[in-house]
Amino acid sequence: MDIRRSLSHHSGSRRSPAEVLRRLTAYVSPGTRPEDPVRELEDRVAGLLGKPKALFFPTGTMAQQAALRVHAERTGRWTFAAHPQTHLQVWENQGYSAVHGLRLHPMGDRHELMTLDDLKTAGEPLAAVVVELPQRDIGGLLPSFEDLAAQAKWARESGAAVHCDGARLWEAQTGYDASLAEISALFDTVYVSLYKALEGVRGAVLAGDDDTIAQAAVWRRRLGGAIVDAWPLAAAALMGLDDALPRMAEFKAHAQAIAAAINADGFAHTTPQVPVTPLFHVHLPLSRQDALRAAEDLLAHTGIRLFLYARSNPDPRRCSFEVNVGISGCEFTPDEVVELIKGLPSRV
Ligand SMILES: Cc1ncc(COP(=O)(O)O)c(C=O)c1O
Repeated sequence: MDIRRSLSHHSGSRRSPAEVLRRLTAYVSPGTRPEDPVRELEDRVAGLLGKPKALFFPTGTMAQQAALRVHAERTGRWTFAAHPQTHLQVWENQGYSAVHGLRLHPMGDRHELMTLDDLKTAGEPLAAVVVELPQRDIGGLLPSFEDLAAQAKWARESGAAVHCDGARLWEAQTGYDASLAEISALFDTVYVSLYKALEGVRGAVLAGDDDTIAQAAVWRRRLGGAIVDAWPLAAAALMGLDDALPRMAEFKAHAQAIAAAINADGFAHTTPQVPVTPLFHVHLPLSRQDALRAAEDLLAHTGIRLFLYARSNPDPRRCSFEVNVGISGCEFTPDEVVELIKGLPSRV
């Protein structure tokens, strides 16, 4: 299916190999060595996050497994605490357990943010506390900076490391009155993604102190991620740091404008009502299967991808989908999104 425009980051036109190659030419010169873009990316991300060292990984899934493994080996503890809907649990087939023998202790309510009081119920020694910023599967909610700092302090005092699943940290920063480095300072290790709002091709970076990153590099090799020619992924990410990173506040403002239009119309509604980052959820009065059929029809007839997948709901007559506003999302006006959503039932 030819995707001409997409409300998600995975826009067909921006990610077509020909288009990516065309834009990448600005990032390589005849003198560029294969290792240069990767090193530049690692240095730049370390600088942005205020960490001594950063390491490229082919995926965030691998980066987080490596980080948790290092924290476990260092503390001699094999349980980590995280939100019940952490990406590690919901989307990664529990690789932390299957590959590393780690255990997840889910903390708090599935549909609410994890709190300090939730953490205090752990009752067992933790290798790490993982905080996902924003909490994607509950609509991109963010704890306040004070809550975050209190959770990090509690974790440290209990001997656990604090790890940030910052797949959308670039976006989450817009929800705080703090810099990327100030947020990252709360964490021992921070993972950031290179292909969400940055709209790179793929890839991730893990940042931390020299020792932790040196150990993570061993695990990257063991897991098969020490690819020497990662430069196209790194160059695409450098492009994202130049083009997309300065626009995060604009992405959030546009997400808020789209959400406001959806809520004002009333056919669908969003959570949160006012997005705190460029990510939010749209709740539809349609079954998941109907929403999927309608979205496929929309794509087939217009080349517009409204969402990648729809989430089921305990009420089978309803479902929801995620919106991530980035460069691609800004190509849609709020009114246009409302019309596309309202038109879904006629496409079932
Ligand atoms: C919150 C979160 N964490 C981790 C990941 C894993 O990233 P990757 O797809 O690079 O493995 C994702 C990917 O969507 C994510 O949304």
